Amino acid sequence: MSKTVPETIEQIQEEALNAVASARTPDDLQALSTRYLGRKGAVTRFLRNISSLPPDQRPTAGKEANKVKKALEAVFSETADRLAQNSAKDKTAIDVSLPGRSAVRGTLHPVTLIMRQICDIFSRLGFSVAEGPEIETDYYNFEALNFPRNHPARDMQDTFFVSEDIVLRTHTSPLQVRVMEKQSPPVRVVAPGKVFRCDSDLTHTPMFHQVEGLMVDENISFGDLKGILTVFVHQMFDDQTSIRFRPSFFPFTEPSAEVDIQCVMCRGRGCRVCSDTGWLEVLGSGMVHPAVLENVGYDTHRYTGFAFGMGVERIAMMKYGIDDLRKFFENDIRFLTQFE
Ligand code: PHE
Repeated sequence: MSKTVPETIEQIQEEALNAVASARTPDDLQALSTRYLGRKGAVTRFLRNISSLPPDQRPTAGKEANKVKKALEAVFSETADRLAQNSAKDKTAIDVSLPGRSAVRGTLHPVTLIMRQICDIFSRLGFSVAEGPEIETDYYNFEALNFPRNHPARDMQDTFFVSEDIVLRTHTSPLQVRVMEKQSPPVRVVAPGKVFRCDSDLTHTPMFHQVEGLMVDENISFGDLKGILTVFVHQMFDDQTSIRFRPSFFPFTEPSAEVDIQCVMCRGRGCRVCSDTGWLEVLGSGMVHPAVLENVGYDTHRYTGFAFGMGVERIAMMKYGIDDLRKFFENDIRFLTQFE
């Protein structure tokens, strides 16, 4: 770029100040600094040429030139600060015309979804929903449910003890007792919640979820139990799903039955999931043992009832075709967001 060389230091200064005033970015300013104050810059060149001036002009020219150099240095440094600040502001400035970022909506956990679905089905059948403590007394978890002290059935429950008399509830059945203590028949209630057992492998986690059900009134029979649970299975899965009752044992029900449904994977033909039996166990149930009704002060000549308890993860696995229980508790977002 060819430029006419200014003749006086004042001209150089004026030109430099004008240029600085129109600098917009730190880069612009850096280029100007090189042009005027750099090793080959105008001011530097002027200073170097002083020696070629007539001797009587040299002192004034030198003094003037150094003054200009100092002044320009000050202006460059101020301007550099100002531009740096401006560019920082630009970066944080909000562009109100940009479209907003939409918030990522979370999804309900599959266990929550299934638990709500179960409760909804029973709500429509006239059941209300109750909840109780996860840390439970020996009385509600065992004693009132007709598990005598030292009864071998207590061992089957793999109990976590908090102290001798306090346990993490091993099932939701304590809610049967808590609900009946508070109200007199008719009782129709479901109780969803967490339960704990000291057990951990492919098909067991130390915490899992159950939904308990209880119905007590005059003239409640095993037929009512079968009817309600059949309706439940047909609504939860579909009305082509067969159901069967197998004799079983629980201290708090008599008679007791385990309920199987036709394998949802193979439709009863036999597969790996149902170990070639064609059936999957979904819940435990039975007629409430008179000893339990007596423990809550119900008249056992007048009232009978049935109870059932089901594992929520089990049902979720069948419903969604999940083969590994642990997936529910790994909290992998890619897994969890599939269940809307
Ligand atoms: N509480 C039992 C269990 O956890 C299930 C059950 C509930 C059985 C109610 C009968 C009646 O295995």
